[in-house]
Amino acid sequence: MKIIANFKMNKTPFETKEYLMNIVPKSKDFNQEIILCLPYTSIAIGKFMTEGTSIKIGAQNLCEEEEGHSTGEISGRMLKDAGVSYVLVGHSERRSKFKENSKALNKKIKSALKNGLNVILCVGETLAERNTLKTSQVLKDEIEEALKGLYENELENITIAYEPIWAIGSGKTLAVKEIDMAAGIIRKVITNDFSPSAGENISIVYGGSVNSKNVGQISKAKKINGLLIGGACLDESSFLQILSTTNH
Ligand code: PGA
Repeated sequence: MKIIANFKMNKTPFETKEYLMNIVPKSKDFNQEIILCLPYTSIAIGKFMTEGTSIKIGAQNLCEEEEGHSTGEISGRMLKDAGVSYVLVGHSERRSKFKENSKALNKKIKSALKNGLNVILCVGETLAERNTLKTSQVLKDEIEEALKGLYENELENITIAYEPIWAIGSGKTLAVKEIDMAAGIIRKVITNDFSPSAGENISIVYGGSVNSKNVGQISKAKKINGLLIGGACLDESSFLQILSTTNH
């Protein structure tokens, strides 16, 4: 099982160090794949503190360009060299606040893969889209636009994070049945576009208000391979609780 923590814009390098001083010694008790998506400024300390452990360091975004005239941006090559192994692409906050469109996301994914990074592609519907029964169409469109031009073997390095936008940071979550239904839709899209084995093997995680109290229930979903956790990962004891609940 994959447990991906999205720190968003939280924790300074010093705070990240303090956090990891509590997490790292206990990490050997867990057999999940733990991925910490840190702010850029915490990547170096994160990498240093987790050296020799199974914890992997992720970033939360990358620039679609390789280098050059893009003031304020960070490329896939830079992330790889900094020791990052995963990168979030297309988080709903980036799509809405920073106007990232599907064309740019497709380029970001290609650049990440070219630089040997694993991609966590975030997709999900708004509440209005859910209420008007558009969830399947939204998931299909977001996945197909993002993965356009990829070869089937590249899916090994892609994880799809299903995050209903209305569930992010809201305290609202989906019933297990609904999570499995969405994961089923995603597997079908991958099956149709690539192959049945690709649909079966694609790694899918669920995200949106997962916390230490609801994680036991949510992790009963059978069609997912892990969880993407925002707010509840920021407190060490809550994150450790999530890790122990999902440690099978
Ligand atoms: P949340 O965030 O767990 O705080 O809802 C999840 C995410 O946005 O990745």
